[in-house]
Amino acid sequence: MNQTKEKKRLEVAKIEDLPLQVGKEVNVGDHEIALFRLSNGKIKAIENRCPHKQGPLSQGIVSGEFVFCPLHDWKIDVSSGEVQKPDDGCVKTYPVEVVDNIVYLII
Ligand code: FES
Repeated sequence: MNQTKEKKRLEVAKIEDLPLQVGKEVNVGDHEIALFRLSNGKIKAIENRCPHKQGPLSQGIVSGEFVFCPLHDWKIDVSSGEVQKPDDGCVKTYPVEVVDNIVYLII
């Protein structure tokens, strides 16, 4: 049987509440999420815990499509969630929709 878990669309922020290249922490149920508005205007959402030692990625430095963990500087792709070499790991990513300047998470 093909079971699909129903996803919800939740409003989490307004575009103007997300300064460029500054992360914002958002908590939805058990999910701790880091929201980013990149310099190219794209909005990205990833798990807010670094796979190394749980550093809060929403407080990291954003550069292009990457965030650098504030604790030990691991570099993480905010689109794929993948940690860049020489380090290894992956964080969960969440789909985002923007409608009329409102940011929604699909979760
Ligand atoms: S906790 Fe993120 S690099 Fe160490």
